[in-house]
Amino acid sequence: MTLRCLVDSLGGRSGPVTEDDLEALYRPPRLPWLRVNMVSTLDGAANGESGKSGSINNEVDRMVFHALRTQCDAVVVGAGTARTERYREAEVPLVVVTHQGQVPEQLREAAPGKVLLATCADSPGLDEARALLGEDQVLLAGDAQVDLPAIKAQLVERGLRNLLSEGGPHLLRDLVDSGAADELTLTVVPRTIAGVHPRILMGTAVDASFDLALLLEQDGTLLGRWLLRS
Ligand SMILES: NC(=O)c1ccc[n+]([C@@H]2O[C@H](COP(=O)([O-])OP(=O)(O)OC[C@H]3O[C@@H](n4cnc5c(N)ncnc54)[C@H](OP(=O)(O)O)[C@@H]3O)[C@@H](O)[C@H]2O)c1
Repeated sequence: MTLRCLVDSLGGRSGPVTEDDLEALYRPPRLPWLRVNMVSTLDGAANGESGKSGSINNEVDRMVFHALRTQCDAVVVGAGTARTERYREAEVPLVVVTHQGQVPEQLREAAPGKVLLATCADSPGLDEARALLGEDQVLLAGDAQVDLPAIKAQLVERGLRNLLSEGGPHLLRDLVDSGAADELTLTVVPRTIAGVHPRILMGTAVDASFDLALLLEQDGTLLGRWLLRS
């Protein structure tokens, strides 16, 4: 059950680590920073039989998930994931990225400022989203498509500099493709499940390279940080 550090190119740690060490091990090397935290099985599934990531993650992954939530300024999530995983308001602002512009059902009653929508000018739901959340809570960037680096810049302008995205796969693909992502934080659980499941990146091809910054291991689960090469 020991959590061990195998690689730490940023901080130079090695050997056993505890939950208390996670804040330092996962600290962004600079701000602003946008990391995307995901989990996958050995055979590349990004969800399990329930259709949610909760059916493939495990205790040590949840521990890192909570450590990342604790240190971030805002959580950025694709509308598909917000809908499927029934996202609720969090301690920090939740930024829902959407083209359609529909505020997910369970977030419509959120307290003012707790939910922001990131969308583009031709979003069909723009007027309704503004009425529901308030004009100031709807971030606009791009005309036909959401300009993710511009959304990131708007969040930074609001003082939200340590950004945590929790996917999903289409948003991760676009964050990597647009260069808005700085880091992929990935847990690989020691299971295979076959069947038909999304991978952690979905959509049209994008070839990106990463440098390994951190690798932790517990009972065969690998928890890594990979920094996007610019
Ligand atoms: N393994 C993991 O770590 C992990 C993490 C998260 C989710 N998941 C799983 O992934 C599945 C959901 O996959 P998904 O690909 O549908 O998730 P997703 O990327 O969160 O959702 C896709 C939807 O989000 C919005 N969106 C994403 N990128 C956008 C962009 N660049 N611009 C504008 N809108 C954008 C669009 O919403 P609109 O339709 O509203 O325009 C799009 O239809 C679920 O099974 C979930 O459990 C797994």
